[in-house]
Amino acid sequence: MWLYLAALTGLFYIVRWYRERQVVSHLPDKYVFITGCDSGFGNLLARQLDARGLRVLAACLTEKGAKQLRGQTSNRLETVTLDVTKTDSVTSAAQWVKEHVGDRGLWGLVNNAGVSMPIAPNEWLTKEDFATVLDVNLLGLIDVTLNLLPLVRKARGRVVNVSSIMGRVSLCGGGYSISKYGVEAFSDSLRRELSYFGVKVSMIEPGYFKTGMTSVQRLIKNLQEIWNRAKPEIKQIYGEKFFAFYMKATELMEPQYWQDLPLVTDCMEHALIACHPRTRYSPGWDAKLLYLPMSYMPTFLVDALFYLGSPRPAKAL
Ligand SMILES: NC(=O)c1ccc[n+]([C@@H]2O[C@H](COP(=O)([O-])OP(=O)(O)OC[C@H]3O[C@@H](n4cnc5c(N)ncnc54)[C@H](OP(=O)(O)O)[C@@H]3O)[C@@H](O)[C@H]2O)c1
Repeated sequence: MWLYLAALTGLFYIVRWYRERQVVSHLPDKYVFITGCDSGFGNLLARQLDARGLRVLAACLTEKGAKQLRGQTSNRLETVTLDVTKTDSVTSAAQWVKEHVGDRGLWGLVNNAGVSMPIAPNEWLTKEDFATVLDVNLLGLIDVTLNLLPLVRKARGRVVNVSSIMGRVSLCGGGYSISKYGVEAFSDSLRRELSYFGVKVSMIEPGYFKTGMTSVQRLIKNLQEIWNRAKPEIKQIYGEKFFAFYMKATELMEPQYWQDLPLVTDCMEHALIACHPRTRYSPGWDAKLLYLPMSYMPTFLVDALFYLGSPRPAKAL
């Protein structure tokens, strides 16, 4: 019986491997629009797809980022400045894309732009802190998608939404996990709706990788600012010891970050050019071996693991 099971499992992986190796044709005619190309995954993906011969339309938050990217790529790659939180900026970028792709439509839309901060216990934060993150990571992503969907539908193309493993399990306060849970929900409903038109929707759920977003210096600076402005009552309830532990835990995260960013951009590329893209990609062993299994565990177990690794507030019962 075990032999049959092993043979079936082996067969499953061989068939899957074969299916996933097939790539769509006419790559040099395909346009891909990527948000958040100033740095990190977006920047690397833009360069990677450009080198592969696709027509990359790269959106950067700043002109400086756009100029730098143009300097590192072929002259087929074109840039536009885009702030995903501003609807005017989104509609004019969509118009720019339309002018470029013409009747061919847009093969790929990669919603990559994102921010993570502030990350802190929820009670230390304000509504605006949550809104800042949700505006970029969720509402911005939805706005860009809605504006570009007619072009993607025309090409029977792909939507690749960059979520996070924090969209599967919520371990820290602030808008980040909330926004990524939202991205998961939006992508799930979108995938089903667009399947009728031949459009495929994939989600990328990376573990922790070393990029500007996970810069420990920036996270610590931001955390310090939040603590400084916290109400005296909050400071009393949580206490300096709790804060110091939280800062230390943030610092200790850094050596655990993956540095191999192509692990993520290869998944994005696969979602764009494979004939049979996956619905979800979870690059990074922390995602595969820790966070994904956690997301399937009973809540009481995840809570127990969380308590094990967390400090107790000064006035905890
Ligand atoms: N790094 C990780 O461990 C990790 C893990 C899971 C998921 N992710 C996701 O991966 C995506 C890319 O992040 P990253 O790690 O590559 O970090 P990153 O280097 O900070 O890249 C994020 C990009 O988004 C841009 N951006 C920020 N606000 C924007 C706005 N309002 N409009 C348009 N663009 C904006 C940033 O521009 P500036 O550089 O000019 O600020 C930057 O280019 C994000 O969606 C993030 O949530 C990252």
